[in-house]
Amino acid sequence: MRMDPCELSPSYVRSIAPYQPGKPISELAREMGLDERSIVKLASNENPRGIGPRTRAAIEAALGDVARYPDGNGFELKQALAKRYGVDIGSIVLGNGSNDVLELVALAFLGPGRAAVFSQHCFAVYPLATQARGARAIVVPARNYGHDLEAMARAIDDETTVAWLANPNNPTGTFARHDEVEAFLKRVPERVLVVLDEAYNEYLVPELRSDTFKLVKRHPNLVVTRTFSKAYGLAGLRVGYAFAHPSVADVMNRVRQPFNVNSIALAAATAALDDMEFVARSYAENLQGLRQLEEGARGLGLKYIPSHGNFITVQVGKAAEIYKRLLRRGVIVRPVGGGYGLPEHLRVTVGTAEENRKFLGALAASLKE
Ligand SMILES: Cc1ncc(COP(=O)(O)O)c(C=O)c1O
Repeated sequence: MRMDPCELSPSYVRSIAPYQPGKPISELAREMGLDERSIVKLASNENPRGIGPRTRAAIEAALGDVARYPDGNGFELKQALAKRYGVDIGSIVLGNGSNDVLELVALAFLGPGRAAVFSQHCFAVYPLATQARGARAIVVPARNYGHDLEAMARAIDDETTVAWLANPNNPTGTFARHDEVEAFLKRVPERVLVVLDEAYNEYLVPELRSDTFKLVKRHPNLVVTRTFSKAYGLAGLRVGYAFAHPSVADVMNRVRQPFNVNSIALAAATAALDDMEFVARSYAENLQGLRQLEEGARGLGLKYIPSHGNFITVQVGKAAEIYKRLLRRGVIVRPVGGGYGLPEHLRVTVGTAEENRKFLGALAASLKE
């Protein structure tokens, strides 16, 4: 019998379980014979506000130039980020979503014979990126669904070169305060790169925000990542970035694709960064929506994990079954059993007030069914 050509790839690659994205609206419409417009998708932590008019105008203007390659260094966006956050251009790495930036970390700092530490219930890309590089995963049990930073620091061994940390974490919405993160950084040896993934940073209440970029100056082994996919509403265009020590940024930039962020995305992100009002509204509406979902969950007698993001993870019992019942009612949420280890929970993105109301109604009916 002939060999399966996939066996040419290393066994650690072949054993990767593919990332499960939220179900697309078009797929559910096809499967259930539903009208796409009637479907509510609260499965991928997207921004229900869409984008602002200034960002839309920048996208339209950028369309004229798509026959040309984008600026491979993303100079304008980097300059805007550097100005906004008071950092050097040389310490910024742009990515095709922050996911790309996380992959660049794995590519540059992980490999066979190396290990990465991360928490139980952490963002799915950390185990994936670690395994794809043939590195060993050190999974640390969560504490109250969140990262147990002391245990993570203790779990670091001689082979560990990366510590993945999502703050807030997805899918639990848990948050480690600035002083806890700094205490962790003090305990972690300098030879370990700490990735502080702040994809949901813009949703934090002001008293929990802190200047983590400044921390990079004190801790050259720290990489902070952020994204335009959430509060800025650009998930479909894929733009994320990292702040790191210039020499760390340099290695990450060496392993990326030369044109990893497209020209429309660059123009949109530069405009979106400037639209502070849009982000402020996204923040405020998210907080209201979060309260609406919390109240609704409490009204149904359900527990939830208090969240600092644009989503909430609710304990519904037989989550796989409730997920299917919700689909039949045209509501898509995210099951977090499987890879995330939360088989009784469903993760629900904060939608518009109307979408949240529709979800809560469908959930009440699905629980009774
Ligand atoms: C914690 C966390 N990090 C990173 C990402 C990646 O987002 P993007 O690649 O769209 O920037 C996500 C997306 O859901 C996330 O939840």
